[in-house]
Formats: sequence, structure tokens, C-alpha cells
Amino acid sequence: MKILAIESSCDETAAAVVEDGRHVLSSVISSQVAEHILYGGVVPEIASRRHVEAITPVVREAVSSCGLTYDDIDAVAVTHAPGLIGALLVGVNFAKGLSLSLDKPLIPVHHLRSHIASNYITHKELEPPFLALVVSGGHSHIVEVRDYTDFSVIGRTRDDAAGECMDKAARALGLPYPGGLNLDKISADGNSDAYKFPRPTVSGSEYDFSFSGLKTAAVNLIHNASQKGEEISIKDFGASYIKAVVRSLVENTEKAAKALGYKKIVIAGGVSANSVLRREMTKLCEKNGFELYLPDKSLCGDNAAMVGSQGYYEYLSGKRADMTLNAKATMGIDE
Ligand code: KG4
Ligand code: ZN
Repeated sequence: MKILAIESSCDETAAAVVEDGRHVLSSVISSQVAEHILYGGVVPEIASRRHVEAITPVVREAVSSCGLTYDDIDAVAVTHAPGLIGALLVGVNFAKGLSLSLDKPLIPVHHLRSHIASNYITHKELEPPFLALVVSGGHSHIVEVRDYTDFSVIGRTRDDAAGECMDKAARALGLPYPGGLNLDKISADGNSDAYKFPRPTVSGSEYDFSFSGLKTAAVNLIHNASQKGEEISIKDFGASYIKAVVRSLVENTEKAAKALGYKKIVIAGGVSANSVLRREMTKLCEKNGFELYLPDKSLCGDNAAMVGSQGYYEYLSGKRADMTLNAKATMGIDE
């Protein structure tokens, strides 16, 4: 079964054709980063306008670059939630039009479910159940993936997401957007013990995260240093800060896996590209005898191949949308 998938939840306009959930026949991504760099972050209205311009050529290229025509497509999948509402609406409306004109089923896909599915493309043998750490610009979740369409969130951030926290510190250090990626690169050979950051504690759920304290500590350190005329070593600061964020992600994932008896761990979302997170998760899994699944780096950020993968499993479970489908800025992965 060939699914034409569309993604426009943030600042990437993407389309892909995916066969049977696992085989990517084409994947096209048009990134808006160059424009948002000017503002230090994503400007929602600009994002929507760029999606409107890019979506037709991107979808056309996804279909033609794998030598197919629209007649070969069996269904249309689209990210409908969560994300920037104006951005999501572009993809949703385009997908509705395609589904209507081709007379093919329309499948709504949750953005975080699709991030998890990027691992089905990278690891053809991976099947649920497993425990997933989903870390993106807007979310930090520990999720029990009981089946392809059966999810239960057991840990979440109480405030900022891990990606947002990386981005804010990077911005305070004067690094360009996208901050998390640039912070990771610049800190590669930094001294991770050079700066001390608080260990976030969360009362209540033992698997929940809190990153706002870390972020505030970072911003205060940077401002205090600049007021005193002291120089901050960006690479040492970045390495120390990333270590603190990653420590929290890794510790909670380990606790949850042990308590719930999961031996398969999956990482997903934009922050899963982070080199320290990948390394520390590898160590954790080796120590405990867990199997670790990391998405290929090309699939960590937003793309439509992952939407085509999850869309296939949503289709198999009977999920369909009609022409009343709308976008939603917020929506739980388990809804
Ligand atoms: O999943 P994603 O592409 O978009 C959302 O769904 O939010 O995630 C974007 C987030 C941004 O906060 C970005 O800074 C972060 O992922 N990110 C990274 C790295 N690459 C992207 N954070 C840390 N290290 C990276 N290498
Ligand atoms: Zn994402």
C-alpha cells in the first residue's frame, strides 16, 4: 500500500510516499530555517505563508521523484495535530483537497506518533510494545507504546520541553536558530564539568520532567557573567548544560523502563539527534541489557516519511478522516 504523506506542523513543508509503513519511496523537505534565522525562532505567520507557497511543488516532487503518478497512490496521510495552527491548516486543507479529488482515503496522523514511527523506517524489525522517549521542540514525553496505535503517556514535562530549553540557552549564548542543533555542534569537545546546573526535581510523578529551572539558571549565569565582564566559554557552558538536560532524560527513562519491565527503548523527536543523548542512552542500554532504537539522523527532525509510516498503521487500525477534518494546536498522543 502506497501512502502519500504530508507534514506542515512547524517550519518544514514535507511530503513523502511510503510503502507498507516501512519503505520510503520518496521524501521531500522544504525547510524555512534560512528565513526564521533572521528572527531567532519560528515566526508562526511567516511559517504558514511559506507552507502555502511550498506545498504544491513539494507534493508534486514527492510523487514524481519516485516515478509514480497520483493514480498509484492508495491513501493520503496528514499531520493534523499538534503544532502551529496556521501551519497545520495548510497541510490539512491540501490533503483534504487531494483525498477528495483522487477519491482516496484520508488518514489523520498525530505528530508525536509519527516521530516514534521514524524508528519503524530505520529499524525494519522494530515492533511494539516498547518504551519511547519523545523529545522535540514542544514536547518531552515518556510513552508506553503498547501497540502501533495504543499509547499511554507515563511521564511528561511540567513546563518547558527539552528542545525549547536547548533553544533558549543557545539563544542567550548568541547562537543562531536552530539553537539545539548549534549548541550540540559547538559543545562537541567542551568540558561538561565546567559549569554547575541544578538537578531538577519534580514532586508527584517520578517520571515527569521540569526544565524551566535549568533554563533560568543558564540565562542568569550568562547575564551575570556579562554584567561582570566575565567571558563565558560557549563550548564548556553548552557541554555542561546539555549534560544536565540529558541526565534528566536518561535517568527518568531508566527508572520507567525498570519499573514497568520494558527492555526495548525507542528515542524520537528533534532532540533525538543530540549526540550526548544518543551516547548516554547507548551506555544506559548497554549497562541494563536493553535494546536501543535510535532514528536515523535524517529522520529525527520533522519530515513526511514518518507520517507515511504511522499513517499506514493508523489506516490498518481503521482510522479515517472525512472532509470535516480540522487541525488542532494541542492534542494528546493517546487521544
Ligand atoms: O521534532 P522537531 O524537529 O520539531 C518539533 O516537533 O518541535 O524538534 C525540534 C527541536 C528544536 O528545539 C531543536 O533545537 C531540537 O529539536 N534539536 C536538537 C538537535 N537537533 C534538533 N536539540 C539538541 N541537539 C540537537 N542535535
Ligand atoms: Zn517534530
